[in-house]
Amino acid sequence: MELNGKTALVTGGAVRIGAAIVRALARAGADVVIHGHRSVEPARALRREVEALGRRAFCVRGDLRREAEVRRVVRESREKGGRLDILVNNAAVFHKDTLRSLTARKLREEFDVNLFAPLLLMRAFAEESGRGSIVNLLDRRITSLDRECLPYVLAKKALAEATRIAALDLAPKIRVNAVAPGAILPPPGEGMAYLKDKAGPIPLRRRCAPEDVAEAVLLLLKNDSLTGQIIFVDGGQHLL
Ligand SMILES: NC(=O)c1ccc[n+]([C@@H]2O[C@H](COP(=O)([O-])OP(=O)(O)OC[C@H]3O[C@@H](n4cnc5c(N)ncnc54)[C@H](OP(=O)(O)O)[C@@H]3O)[C@@H](O)[C@H]2O)c1
Repeated sequence: MELNGKTALVTGGAVRIGAAIVRALARAGADVVIHGHRSVEPARALRREVEALGRRAFCVRGDLRREAEVRRVVRESREKGGRLDILVNNAAVFHKDTLRSLTARKLREEFDVNLFAPLLLMRAFAEESGRGSIVNLLDRRITSLDRECLPYVLAKKALAEATRIAALDLAPKIRVNAVAPGAILPPPGEGMAYLKDKAGPIPLRRRCAPEDVAEAVLLLLKNDSLTGQIIFVDGGQHLL
């Protein structure tokens, strides 16, 4: 897919890894719809930044835990952009919960945002756009049995399978791929020292940056032969 002139919706695109994906798409010539939930000012600032690059940018707000909001976000994105070619399912929540500490409410929130929302977004995108390309953000922990964040890991593992099922189901008009990052940024409120402590050994001895994740997203979007693929951007950690 030639990205120049296409329109991309990035969920949770106002800050952190989502913002890096928005910037990379804009530099590649795409117009962007920056979806946000609570980050209203950062979304507006990023819109101005993208416009300064000569691309069109729009902000759309919505709580993706609500099915009606998911539909509205996708519809509004297409209406604002005039077209919608790309969906990047980046929005997520991350909580630490083990089997012993989880509750039904915590499980539901993790699954609502990290699994149900991307699934409903893929369906809405297929209905609204009919063709294009989707990239889901996973986590390198999908290959592990991480006990410290059980609901999060389960939701991401299920999204990995959903990526492959959707790739089959939506072919040939829509390609569906995924990027599985390693430890890129500490959770909001934690410093970079958090990552040093928690990230564990990295075979390439290199911590990946948000821009590395964004590059992988672009690679999957550009190559029309790829569907059902998962690219790990983790310095090789998923191999351990
Ligand atoms: N950070 C890492 O090192 C890392 C590692 C592995 C995988 N990943 C994955 O990569 C992606 C990006 O990571 P990140 O750390 O940059 O993400 P993040 O900061 O945890 O979340 C991204 C955005 O998701 C949005 N969001 C959360 N709940 C929402 C809801 N109910 N409705 C709508 N939007 C909601 C928030 O938008 P607002 O701010 O607008 O509210 C938030 O800023 C995620 O899918 C994550 O699981 C990240």
